[in-house]
Amino acid sequence: MTKTGIQGGAGTAGPGNTGASGDATLEELERRATARRDRPSYGHDALIACDRLVRVFTTDGVEVQALQGLDLLVKEGELMALVGASGSGKSTLMNILAGLDVPTAGAARVAGRDLLAMDGGARLRYRREVVGFVWQQTARNLLPYLTAAQNVALPMQLRGRSKARRKTERAEELLAMLGITEIRDRRPHQLSGGQQQRVAIAVALANDPAVLLADEPTGELDSATGEQVFAAFRRANEELGTTIVIVTHDQAVASEVRRTVAIRDGRTSSEVLRRTEVDEQGRESLVAREYAMLDRAGRLQLPAEYTQALGMEHRVALELEQDHIGVWPDDADRR
Ligand SMILES: Nc1ncnc2c1ncn2[C@@H]1O[C@H](COP(=O)(O)OP(=O)(O)O)[C@@H](O)[C@H]1O
Ligand SMILES: [Mg+2]
Repeated sequence: MTKTGIQGGAGTAGPGNTGASGDATLEELERRATARRDRPSYGHDALIACDRLVRVFTTDGVEVQALQGLDLLVKEGELMALVGASGSGKSTLMNILAGLDVPTAGAARVAGRDLLAMDGGARLRYRREVVGFVWQQTARNLLPYLTAAQNVALPMQLRGRSKARRKTERAEELLAMLGITEIRDRRPHQLSGGQQQRVAIAVALANDPAVLLADEPTGELDSATGEQVFAAFRRANEELGTTIVIVTHDQAVASEVRRTVAIRDGRTSSEVLRRTEVDEQGRESLVAREYAMLDRAGRLQLPAEYTQALGMEHRVALELEQDHIGVWPDDADRR
């Protein structure tokens, strides 16, 4: 372990700067201050940026902290999954991102909109134009007395910008892209659950939103149908470039996206990233790696299996090495 390693980063050794800040020239201190000030803000290049989001519900005087300082960044064009036990805060987060609910504290920005600062009108435009939403309950996504094609055209009518012919064309295009042209004139009760969800995706995409949010969209479907619905999300992501966040319990869905973020107790706790590797024989395989989340204060949650295996409690010893940080059980009493 080297002591200078800890100071790292900020100071490049040069004349008048031997590493210790006491020796730095005024010029060097100014340069450092400027560098700190010009540093881009958290999540500046992300399409979705949640920064220490808190949502507290109070019912009958009892407080529930559904989100407890949740950080999440999603890049433009990503297709990612959110997983987590029931009650971990997934729907609370989705409702906030959908503009249906307002966080108690923290910051949330989607496609340049500050979700805590929107007034009623801005919120309505946000829901109509910036985000699309697919719910788990298939019946909640569609109006029962309209055909599939009419359901898809409706958000465009509510927005009221394009010509009637253009709306019909766009509805047809979306239905074709999702492989459901043949059911265009049927009403929801004449459709299977999987077909309804695919129509719901088309409805959510009608106004070409920057973000498509889906809360357990395959939750009421069998696995084969769920796979078809997931394929429709993938299609939308690939063909239209729409950024998509899917909450799911479905392991098959979670393992088909490049990035899965796990939520625990109202915070993001870990992330699995998958990438395709090609070996020397040209064989492709999917490699998954799990990462722990480091929050902005530098806090890290160690997996319970790891800490229990080594009997770690309360206090651990840390050591900075060249390319990693070692975590050791507390040995203070033994020294
Ligand atoms: N409107 C509400 N009023 C009171 N408590 C709520 C409300 N919505 C969610 N909660 C509580 O917040 C926590 C997180 O819920 P939720 O976001 O629905 O979790 P998930 O979708 O991960 O199952 C739960 O304890 C839930 O009971
Ligand atoms: Mg939920």
